[in-house]
Amino acid sequence: MTAPDVEPTEETIFTWGAPPLKFGAGAADEVGFELSQYGVKRVLIVTDPGISAIGAPQRIADNLRRYEIEAEIFDGVHVEPTDDSMNKATEYARVQGPWDGFVAVGGGSAIDTAKAINLLTSHPGELMDYINKPIGNAKVPPGQLKPLIAVPTTAGTGSESTAMCVLDILSMKVKTGISHWRLRPTLAVVDPLLTLTLPPEVTAASGMDIVCHALESYTARYYTTFERKQPQERVTYCGANPVSDLWCEQALTLLARSFRTAVHGGADDVAARVDMMQAATFAGMGFGNSGVHIPHANAYPIAGMVRDYRPAGYPQDEAMVPHGQSVSLTAPEAFRFSFDSAPERHLRAAALLGPDAPSVDPAEQLPSVLVALMRDIGIPNGIGGVGYTEDDVPDLVPGTMKQQRLLATCPRTPTEDDIAGILTRSVENW
Ligand SMILES: NC(=O)c1ccc[n+]([C@@H]2O[C@H](COP(=O)([O-])OP(=O)(O)OC[C@H]3O[C@@H](n4cnc5c(N)ncnc54)[C@H](O)[C@@H]3O)[C@@H](O)[C@H]2O)c1
Ligand SMILES: [Zn+2]
Repeated sequence: MTAPDVEPTEETIFTWGAPPLKFGAGAADEVGFELSQYGVKRVLIVTDPGISAIGAPQRIADNLRRYEIEAEIFDGVHVEPTDDSMNKATEYARVQGPWDGFVAVGGGSAIDTAKAINLLTSHPGELMDYINKPIGNAKVPPGQLKPLIAVPTTAGTGSESTAMCVLDILSMKVKTGISHWRLRPTLAVVDPLLTLTLPPEVTAASGMDIVCHALESYTARYYTTFERKQPQERVTYCGANPVSDLWCEQALTLLARSFRTAVHGGADDVAARVDMMQAATFAGMGFGNSGVHIPHANAYPIAGMVRDYRPAGYPQDEAMVPHGQSVSLTAPEAFRFSFDSAPERHLRAAALLGPDAPSVDPAEQLPSVLVALMRDIGIPNGIGGVGYTEDDVPDLVPGTMKQQRLLATCPRTPTEDDIAGILTRSVENW
């Protein structure tokens, strides 16, 4: 896809990074060999209780022992981590350490928690020192971290290849993160067989996260339209660029082929699970460099201010809006808003994600493809479906506006009123 027709600035540089990747059925059985190459002797496996119950972390621990690596399992990861849960995990790792390396086994929750543990046990300082401004101090990690192998068990976040770590700040009821290239895992070991046990609701929600990563990255502000940065100012998200575009196009094609099948076919359709895992990894390699925009910015207050929504397929002990649901609920409306800034890209994305969709008004093409998909896979109908009404919109808007890092990536800069309008029109999506 060519660069959109926009006013050029003096920026001429984009950056792109990803960890080495080992992908395929059975890849998880090679984690021990891979870690042995780093000369590590004592490793902490980081996971959550749901994944631990399935046995994958124990299998990986056994595999490490075959290479004479001492492996312990920490299975206290909180699903959708918080500052509190990450601090507790770090405390555990500090007390039980030192560790020569880490293996994250799980979805974004486990991988992000492992990134935080790795940072805070490799270097001095506390979580808030490193969290993005304006919430934290955005301190730069002072040096290299320990080896971290990320083994995803959901097809969703792409966290195994990104430099981000996302968490909920409980006292502020807002999600934010740490974003620095040093957080990127050393190696991604991606084994689609690990996703065969995913419940359909988690397959659907984490799959919508892939969809939004690919679409938001593809429609993000183009890198040449930002002000020129000095080398030390370059950030992880540099805007849509030719390399990220390639990964996002591939991810959308795979999603078109296999997303519905993966949700409805359960454990029986290995080919669909392979496609979904590739889509997640590819989209991560895209958005992890270019960025995401309005749907993800809105997702933070939607998840952070949840009252009593308890989704099927997820732990029931507390209310939550899973990340993949929260990013998708305002996506149709967000892409109506951003359409004019890059019509060609919105149409190309719609054609890749919904190759058989009937043609409608161009600005409606991508929203209609998204709505059809969300209805088919059982995503809640708008923010109303997870418990919000129009009256909540004024309380949600400030949470979105705090995500300046993400909103800066939007090809059309939204005002508070624009965000309020998008949220209001997303109370119901169909
Ligand atoms: N770092 C990044 O780049 C990035 C990007 C997007 C999202 N995130 C973050 O990732 C988190 C969401 O991660 P997620 O969507 O991967 O889900 P998750 O890690 O929160 O897991 C969701 C649920 O699925 C269960 N589960 C996971 N794998 C399973 C399997 N194979 N079989 C059965 N159950 C399984 C878990 O136990 C949990 O209950 C959020 O906190 C989100 O903000 C991070
Ligand atoms: Zn996401």
